[in-house]
Amino acid sequence: MTVYVLNGPNLNRLGTREPEIYGTTTYADLALLCEAAARRLGLDVAVRQTNAEAEMLAWLHAAADAGADVVLNAAAWTHTSIAIGDACAMLTGRLIEVHISNVYKRESFRHHSYVSPHADGVVIGCGVDGYRLALEHLAV
Ligand code: DQA
Repeated sequence: MTVYVLNGPNLNRLGTREPEIYGTTTYADLALLCEAAARRLGLDVAVRQTNAEAEMLAWLHAAADAGADVVLNAAAWTHTSIAIGDACAMLTGRLIEVHISNVYKRESFRHHSYVSPHADGVVIGCGVDGYRLALEHLAV
């Protein structure tokens, strides 16, 4: 079964976006990193990014219908979107929440997550390596 690796707003800007916080790996490199890790682990992955909340909701609904596992970096929607939280509640496979930066070392508005109450695991502050860690967890 396909594992969905879903990325929210502004993550397409990785590489140039606040590199002191998010590092210099581009989104294209992140997608390759996930695909390489998945190949090694024998997983099938669909790595996606969107700046449109409706598109993210449609992907989460598709994952729920398929019973698929999800690695989700909902980016800023993590802290703002009840709709994303509600869609995470519908998931029937496992959900691993990922954040590249340590959100708890940052502004207090980043300390609340609408995703975490529905997540089986959370990987925070490990840089883009967090995605590999999430996939390794899902592979066992
Ligand atoms: C992020 C952290 C969020 O607070 C922020 O809005 C992002 C990226 C991270 O990966 O560290 O866009 O999810």
